[in-house]
Amino acid sequence: AEIALKTEAIVGRLKPLEGPLLPILHDVQKEFGYVPKAALPVIANGLNLSRAEVHGVVSFYHDYREEPAGRHVIKMCRAEACQSMGGDELGERLLDLLGLDWHGTSDDGAVTIEPVYCLGLCACAPAAMVDGQVIGRLDDRMVTELARAVKA
Ligand code: FES
Repeated sequence: AEIALKTEAIVGRLKPLEGPLLPILHDVQKEFGYVPKAALPVIANGLNLSRAEVHGVVSFYHDYREEPAGRHVIKMCRAEACQSMGGDELGERLLDLLGLDWHGTSDDGAVTIEPVYCLGLCACAPAAMVDGQVIGRLDDRMVTELARAVKA
């Protein structure tokens, strides 16, 4: 009920905007840390859309989470500069170590891993962002340590 109420308030506030759906989803995610299922019908009603339409938009944009994120969020850069510096293999290695897939969250809620496409840190590729802090020049050792640290 709290989700519905808060979502209703956000919809009410942003509805007058032209193209209100994305700003509403943005604020809902900011409020809850993800876009809860319970928010979808409220948004759909408010904007005269179907639930499926709203859900379609949420799943189209990878910036929106449909589940709460883990306590730690790792964003691995998968864009070109990082790829060319071995970012792909490091990403795969990290997924392996964590036992997750891209966009996955560990069962204990410790960590979420997401791809990003350029962190503006190409000169220090391969790069990642961990809990909002950028890390450059990732290597095997750092990735192993990172996996250990977020699971601790
Ligand atoms: Fe990875 Fe730019 S391509 S930071």
